[in-house]
Amino acid sequence: MSDKATLTYNGQQFELNVRKGTIGPDVIDISSLYAQTGAFTLDPGFTSTASCESTITYIDGEAGILLHRGYPIDQLAEHGHYLETCYLLLYGELPNEAQRQEFEDAITNHTMIHEQMQKLFAGFRRDAHPMAIMVGVVGALSAFYHDSTDINDPQQREIASRRMIAKLPTIAAMAYKYSIGQPFVYPRNDLDYASNFLQMCFAVPSEEYKVNPILARALDRIFILHADHEQNASTSTVRLASSSGANPFACIAAGIACLWGPAHGGANEAALSMLAEIGTPDRIPEFIERAKDKNDPFRLMGFGHRVYKNYDPRAKIMQKTCHEVLNELGIKDDPLLDVAHELERVALSDPYFVEKKLYPNIDFYSGITLRALGFPVEMFTVLFALARTVGWISQWREMIEDPSQRIGRPRQLYTGEAQREYVMPEDR
Ligand code: CMC
Repeated sequence: MSDKATLTYNGQQFELNVRKGTIGPDVIDISSLYAQTGAFTLDPGFTSTASCESTITYIDGEAGILLHRGYPIDQLAEHGHYLETCYLLLYGELPNEAQRQEFEDAITNHTMIHEQMQKLFAGFRRDAHPMAIMVGVVGALSAFYHDSTDINDPQQREIASRRMIAKLPTIAAMAYKYSIGQPFVYPRNDLDYASNFLQMCFAVPSEEYKVNPILARALDRIFILHADHEQNASTSTVRLASSSGANPFACIAAGIACLWGPAHGGANEAALSMLAEIGTPDRIPEFIERAKDKNDPFRLMGFGHRVYKNYDPRAKIMQKTCHEVLNELGIKDDPLLDVAHELERVALSDPYFVEKKLYPNIDFYSGITLRALGFPVEMFTVLFALARTVGWISQWREMIEDPSQRIGRPRQLYTGEAQREYVMPEDR
């Protein structure tokens, strides 16, 4: 196969280089197109555009495959732990025992946040959405940790990376505690990452809190499933924000803002609300019809994906985790799970969803699982943000370390007025 693509434009032929990845589709390098032809390309929603070169995560959407540094997501979720996946995403290899110990110790020792940051929380209304608090407080880390904002210093980048992975659970738990009017619970360094998060969310000073290891393991797996997902909207936001040289805390706050939307990280909240609205399996046909109606904005939340045109591999593990959690909690009948199973069955046998290759995504079962773990719906996207932080950071580091990195500056197809003369107010 040729490593050149030929473009005919204005009667002239132009040669463009074709790049080949380790796996995945070829990429036509159009970076010289404007210089050669004076024309831009147009790709709203970036459906055909690779925005960068990356070695971190690979997705084959047709086959339903997700690899981190080459390792399949199901193997990482089955055999590994979240911090091990963090290490893998950040440094490219699974850690040996000494590396694992050093990394886990470092993360554990950075879990506390500057005491003065507590005062920030008091500035928010009690009914503030915890994602609003996350955007504000994570951005504010740059006002507290000046010694790790210089992106040109590898040591500072390393410290900022570890700080965010360590502190996001603390901030997320504080956002939750604040919303329910309970005192903040400090991190405990004798607990693993997920157990510590559970105790910061659910412990109260007046009684002892025992972490259920099965639930902690389930939460750890949920974190693994959300750790990274290639160049999705929030990751691209982080990359674009950081391409200007902005500090890492501000860039991760930008990623959190993007994640909040219902088409992205907010879908788990929306999926659970939808299942509750459907209520009983007999109402499913009505909602299926609405989802298919072009004049109705309703969509099946937790269904469909820009990249996966097959079962989202994360959704399968999430479904299994959901059953494990409900089992452990002795929840024999969850009406929402009944609705979810039936909705999945009906949709997957409906020609509309089959033809458009719309399958359940990770968010379809995550809401039921997180709710069973005790989290209110407003916290769902916060948990996603917490777990995705390592992905954002890994992609940010990769970008900063790439010598060819430049500020991201897309162009446009301008369809507004051509140049015209200013009209004086009395003549309008
Ligand atoms: N329900 C009904 N129809 C749908 C759905 C859905 N959930 N998703 C896509 N379609 C239809 C859509 O109407 C369009 O039909 P047509 O070709 O006739 O106009 C076709 O399928 C393609 O949809 P699209 O909007 O062009 O696809 P996209 O790649 O731009 O959007 C998506 C992907 C995830 C935003 C979309 O599938 C969606 O809105 N899903 C519901 C929200 C959701 O579950 N999001 C979580 C994504 S996974 C977690 C994450 O990564 O954040």
